[in-house]
Amino acid sequence: MSEKVDFDKYTDNYNELLREGTGFFSSSEEYFARYKVELVREALGSQPVNRILEYGCGIGRNIPYLQAAFPAAEIIGTDISEASLATAATENKGVRFEVEAPGLDLGKFDLIFVAGVYHHIPRAERLPATELLATRLQSQGSACVFEHNPFNPVTRRIVDTCPYDADAVLLKPSELRGLFGQAGLAVRSSAYCLFVPPRLSWLSPVEKHLGWLPLGGQYWVRAGLS
Ligand SMILES: C[S@@+](CC[C@H](N)C(=O)[O-])C[C@H]1O[C@@H](n2cnc3c(N)ncnc32)[C@H](O)[C@@H]1O
Repeated sequence: MSEKVDFDKYTDNYNELLREGTGFFSSSEEYFARYKVELVREALGSQPVNRILEYGCGIGRNIPYLQAAFPAAEIIGTDISEASLATAATENKGVRFEVEAPGLDLGKFDLIFVAGVYHHIPRAERLPATELLATRLQSQGSACVFEHNPFNPVTRRIVDTCPYDADAVLLKPSELRGLFGQAGLAVRSSAYCLFVPPRLSWLSPVEKHLGWLPLGGQYWVRAGLS
């Protein structure tokens, strides 16, 4: 397996590389951020959300959508890439960003949002990372994790050609659910997503019924403390 990718090197062209890989699906890379946050917003319904952690927030692309969806919540973004956090802080004034490091104590969260991070975490470190998230979850809180779908050949091709995915080891939904179980989290829902591009948004109502079909570009799992 390749050496771990250092996202400090991709802060300037992260969006450009994402656009290059996914432009056939949506010309706006912002679409992917908004889409995921909207799925989470809908799934949480009336669950109170006062504190949100975005774990592995990168350059902060999801933060404005989290702010819009949960306007009253305090939001904290963390990552191991300091350069990414510096960009995130410049573009999201007033939001707190912290470098992930052993012993970092941020308190408990009602929502932990994680998008496209696990496939960059070496296999042996995935369970400790999941256990860390479990310790940061409020008793009624939700951890929502989005990942690339390894069953989708288009997704695999995008990952194979993206420079910042050089260290990517995709995980199946069953692996992610297994990690949640081992970390003491109960899976509340698990679904494939991102089936149709925004130009076919009239098909969105159908998409909601396709969560079982392993053809979506991504999938997401929501879990809470057992
Ligand atoms: C593909 S980017 C996704 C960034 C962001 N979540 C998004 O959706 O735009 C993956 C991010 O995960 C971060 N990352 C990788 N391993 C991590 C870990 N163990 N803890 C926290 N962040 C990590 C990387 O530094 C990078 O910023």
